[in-house]
Amino acid sequence: MKQLFLRSRSLRRFFSSPSSRRCAEENGSAAARRNSVEHEPEAKPVRKPTWRCFSYEEMHRATNGFHQDNLVGRGGYAEVYRGELDDGRVIAVKRLTRAVTDEQKEKDFLTELGTVGHVSHPNVTAFLGCCIDKDLHLIFEFSSLGSVSSNLHNANSSPMAWKLRYKTAVGTARGLHYLHKGCQRRIIHRDIKSSNILLSANFEPQISDFGLAKWLPSEWTHRAVAPIEGTFGCLAPEYFTHGIVDEKTDVFAFGVFILEIISGRKPVDGSHKSLLSWARPYLNDGTIQLLIDTRLGEDYDIDQLKRLTFIASLCIRANATWRPSMAEVLNLIEGGDMSSERWKMPEEEKEQEFWDLDDLDDCGTPTSSSSSMGS
Ligand SMILES: Nc1ncnc2c1ncn2[C@@H]1O[C@H](COP(=O)(O)OP(=O)(O)O)[C@@H](O)[C@H]1O
Ligand SMILES: [Mg+2]
Repeated sequence: MKQLFLRSRSLRRFFSSPSSRRCAEENGSAAARRNSVEHEPEAKPVRKPTWRCFSYEEMHRATNGFHQDNLVGRGGYAEVYRGELDDGRVIAVKRLTRAVTDEQKEKDFLTELGTVGHVSHPNVTAFLGCCIDKDLHLIFEFSSLGSVSSNLHNANSSPMAWKLRYKTAVGTARGLHYLHKGCQRRIIHRDIKSSNILLSANFEPQISDFGLAKWLPSEWTHRAVAPIEGTFGCLAPEYFTHGIVDEKTDVFAFGVFILEIISGRKPVDGSHKSLLSWARPYLNDGTIQLLIDTRLGEDYDIDQLKRLTFIASLCIRANATWRPSMAEVLNLIEGGDMSSERWKMPEEEKEQEFWDLDDLDDCGTPTSSSSSMGS
């Protein structure tokens, strides 16, 4: 505890210095990066990030003393409480719970802060600030419609409409493209999945949970990471087997996410058959209508389904080189030419495409999967 106190005092000094308030002086360099983006479909201006430190009293008041009734989510790493600030703004207060030592807790906190403090995009959960008194908290805008996971898999509510599923795929692609290409540094999220995509009050998908995110220096092709963390069922083969992380790690997970949106099936469920191995035969033989969530009946758009399944089949390719970038995904999802010729793989590469998640059953499961309450 003493250690946390001492460390947090130095954090407090850091946070109170004016230079720390610049948060992300990203606009200039981001503009430079954007010039080199292969595809820039968004005309929207990027908001400049601003965040501040909150006091523990403010957090305590806002969450009714961290009351259980305010607990809205619990993942593998944190508990999240709904709160209301004195000015009426509704917030999500994330309290990190995984770490057993104060040192690890601070590390987790700073890792996430180091990313969320620098990002600002309509499809990324807005970071409002942090609280370093007593405990370490990250504060975000509250996404009132919950996670995509809770919307997709709640058997007691009506099925998520196709239009919203498509909008979710498009918005998430935009958010990911921003993380990879639109902000100051390349950010690899590493845990793209339905419980980490939240829905705002106006049904806008927002990428959240940057607990595993990594920066990637521009001159690096990739980085090797250990331990391998993330969610079983969404991990790209090169990451699962060698810890290799780059943008294509997220592209792969995005492909699985699309399949989850289409089918309403979880990446792994109790049946020991992964979503990937279930979906692959339908993708390969073109019987894509069999992938649709049966709860939707005929209420879906066949052209959009063709587009999404085409994109998913590219994103989940075993060989990362043959996966598209998020810029290319965005182009496709927004109506770009779906030429099979353009994406054709050499025959010898196809041989390797039989890699499947279930092949890894013997390798043991890496870490965690987070679950959210109400999902
Ligand atoms: N900004 C938010 N608004 C509403 N709910 C949230 C928000 N952030 C997180 N949650 C809920 O809390 C859950 C866990 O949060 P997350 O940041 O993913 O923690 P973990 O790192 O433990 O996975 C999410 O799946 C979601 O249900
Ligand atoms: Mg999570």
